[in-house]
Amino acid sequence: MDRTFVMIKPDGVARGLVGTIISRMENKGLKLVAAKLDRLPESRVAEQYREHLEKPFFPGLKAYIMSGPCMLMVWEGNGVVGIARSLIGATNPTEAAPGTIRGDLALDIGRNVIHGSDSPASAEREIGIHFSARDLVDYTRCDESLLYE
Ligand code: RTP
Ligand code: MG
Repeated sequence: MDRTFVMIKPDGVARGLVGTIISRMENKGLKLVAAKLDRLPESRVAEQYREHLEKPFFPGLKAYIMSGPCMLMVWEGNGVVGIARSLIGATNPTEAAPGTIRGDLALDIGRNVIHGSDSPASAEREIGIHFSARDLVDYTRCDESLLYE
């Protein structure tokens, strides 16, 4: 089964959006296999956003991500990387479609509430930054035939 890394950023946690975001993903049928509320040290922010280290927005992004605890999660499902990105919506909330998390719950690119891995390779890398293998819980949520033909 495919996995992705999803992180509710400090603004989402502080605004009390953890429950509604988890509900949206659960309602879709995705399966939560790991979760923890955590403050990211500078080293893990740099690893998480390594492709952005040299970008002009990186100092602001780092301060934002370190401004409070994040909700770190691993979600499972067929095609979950793309499905989670669709649920999350465009990076800039001004362009994110209504019905998406950023389209409904955010206003500004620098406070866009949530992160989702952009490819299966990124997902595997990012899960490894924040979780160890034993943090990923193996369980049956419901009969899979209710979700997949
Ligand atoms: P994320 O990695 O957080 O899921 O977001 P994303 O793939 O949709 O967008 P990405 O290009 O990877 O950018 C990472 C995060 O950096 C902040 N950002 N600010 N001010 C700016 O121009 C700017 N561009 C990006 C956003 O918080 C974005 O989610
Ligand atoms: Mg990204």
